[in-house]
Amino acid sequence: MTTSSSDKLRIVVLISGSGTNLQALIDARDKGELPAELTAVISNRPEAVGLQRAAQAGIETDVLDHKQFPDRISFDRQLMQVIDKHQPGLVVLAGYMRILSDEFVRHYTGRMLNIHPSLLPKYKGLNTHQRALESGDRIHGCSIHFVTETLDGGPVIIQAGVTIDADDDAASLARKVQQQEHIIYPMVVRWFAEGRLSLQNDQPVFDQQVLESPIQLSELS
Ligand code: GRF
Repeated sequence: MTTSSSDKLRIVVLISGSGTNLQALIDARDKGELPAELTAVISNRPEAVGLQRAAQAGIETDVLDHKQFPDRISFDRQLMQVIDKHQPGLVVLAGYMRILSDEFVRHYTGRMLNIHPSLLPKYKGLNTHQRALESGDRIHGCSIHFVTETLDGGPVIIQAGVTIDADDDAASLARKVQQQEHIIYPMVVRWFAEGRLSLQNDQPVFDQQVLESPIQLSELS
């Protein structure tokens, strides 16, 4: 039996900035490690560098500038239309810096992932690296979760930790965390594409097992 590309999971990636996580997904695809189609990349910021990465990788791009809309819900409704044109099986938030309306979240429940630069439930929201430093934490990291209506509060699938060293500042910590992000995001998207990962009754299920707590990257290596 042959498999045409249209049988593959269609993925739409939402970005707002540099798109290094998008790049990690593109690289995985190019290495044949992502059995999915990166169908479109959509940015709410016209200047997002990630748009260039997408274009170079031959992925369709779209810009929907939130500043052109009177309120969150009208923007989100238009964004849903733009996304749904591509009929995605998965929406990947990769540095998409917008708070999502409940209507938007409900529309993609179970098929929308986000990556957050902290070990959730610690440090929801912004400036996570600085906050970890100021709290005197020894360990920091990143989390991937299914998106639910609570900001950065959806069920976590996997986390990767990094050690905070005495000479770390927010920038060095961000670099360390991003290295881990670029490992775990393609991995999780692959699991979803392979049908190994889903959301059932608000809980992540991986290889038929309900994840009572997040997978830790260190457990896999
Ligand atoms: C990442 O640190 C991610 O955790 C957060 O936004 C950042 C996006 O970086 N949600 P990039 O645009 O993928 O380089």
